[in-house]
Amino acid sequence: MFPSTPQPLPAGLLDKQEAQAQLILKDRALAACAEGITIADARLPDQPLIYINAGFERLTGYPVAEVLGRNCRFLQGPETDPATVETLRQAIREQRAVTVELLNYRKDGTPFWNRLSITPVRDEAGVVTHLIGVQSDVTAEVEAKEGLRLANRRLESAARITKQDLEAAAESQQALLPVDLPSFPGFRFAYRSRPCIDVGGDSLNVLSLDDQHLAVYVLDVSGHGVAAALLSVTLTYMLLAPPDRSLLYHAAADGSGAYAVTRPAEVVARLNRQFSPNSPMARYFTMLYGILNKRTGEFCYVAAGHLGPVHVRADAEPLTGETTSIPVGVLAHAAYEERTITLAPGERLYLCTDGLYESENGAQEEFGVERLIEVLDEGRAASLEESLDSLMDRVEKWRGGNGAADDSSILAIERTG
Ligand SMILES: Cc1cc2nc3c(=O)[nH]c(=O)nc-3n(C[C@H](O)[C@H](O)[C@H](O)COP(=O)(O)O)c2cc1C
Repeated sequence: MFPSTPQPLPAGLLDKQEAQAQLILKDRALAACAEGITIADARLPDQPLIYINAGFERLTGYPVAEVLGRNCRFLQGPETDPATVETLRQAIREQRAVTVELLNYRKDGTPFWNRLSITPVRDEAGVVTHLIGVQSDVTAEVEAKEGLRLANRRLESAARITKQDLEAAAESQQALLPVDLPSFPGFRFAYRSRPCIDVGGDSLNVLSLDDQHLAVYVLDVSGHGVAAALLSVTLTYMLLAPPDRSLLYHAAADGSGAYAVTRPAEVVARLNRQFSPNSPMARYFTMLYGILNKRTGEFCYVAAGHLGPVHVRADAEPLTGETTSIPVGVLAHAAYEERTITLAPGERLYLCTDGLYESENGAQEEFGVERLIEVLDEGRAASLEESLDSLMDRVEKWRGGNGAADDSSILAIERTG
């Protein structure tokens, strides 16, 4: 007979139903999971898979029927890294959790990067009974990282090549600086030049024009680095050209075919015509160009956007020549003015670029022209070379740890006799 009113289910049956409901829920959760989830039996030989979720089927393309009972190594293939497999093997042998990224292959043969975590599961006695594997497809992530690594490698190699090029360019540029400045009875010359990065825009030289005259110049191309160095090298070669092609000479008026020395203002004007603001090189430069008369000690110069020479005298205060004109390459038809200083025996002239006196200390204070003159004047009893070294040292100390922001060059002339 059936009871007329609903009777409560026996307690054991209720537990069983709840347990079953929970199992179904867990099964659904595992099936819905995007990652692959696998369980291997650790007690059976070769740890065969006893469970895979739907995520694993989607990820690998292998249906459950082809997988259960097999060791999961079937996902590995020719490009799988043996060292990573060894890491897995060792961790499983030592019964510890492990996470690796390794290349696996789907059923259709396409490779994918698998981030695999394996965790051992222990029973109440602490014995490892199962191993749980979680598989995620991290192909996009690994390829992005690889792309970045490759890009970095390319960048590093490009930087290395650029550095080598810069060093080679610096060597060629340094080779253009005079090894020894010429020495003439009654005069001595010395210089120091330090590019701020491997290549610089400063150049200087002393050239013999004829029996009586020497050309002396210091020039500073705007900016520094390769472009400035290229122009500085071009200018150096132009100034070294033989008389028939040189800016420093012109045909003598007597029609003899001889060459006469061109005045400094005209030399600078010629350069300005070649490097006018509309020229393709479009870079200006400052220049102190002068002609020294070896007999009289007269130095006739143009200081185009450049500090005039610092004149250190034996028993008098030092003098600084002023800038006489605007830099070269700024204004197409600029006029350049000349000044003349007479160098008496025992006196010196220093021609320098702005990298020296514009050097900044930690507080961003410039070394300054006044301090420059002071240091040069203090060195008047020392040799010409020593006076340059002590100035370079003082500027270096002034900068402290600060790297130089510009090239620093200085050329010194001494009338000895
Ligand atoms: C639960 C579990 C899941 C695994 N999943 C993968 C997998 O997705 N890809 C893979 O290359 N190896 C997987 N492995 C590792 C291999 O089955 C095997 O342990 C590994 O290749 C090292 O052993 P062997 O040197 O005997 O091949 C899994 C292992 C376990 C226990």
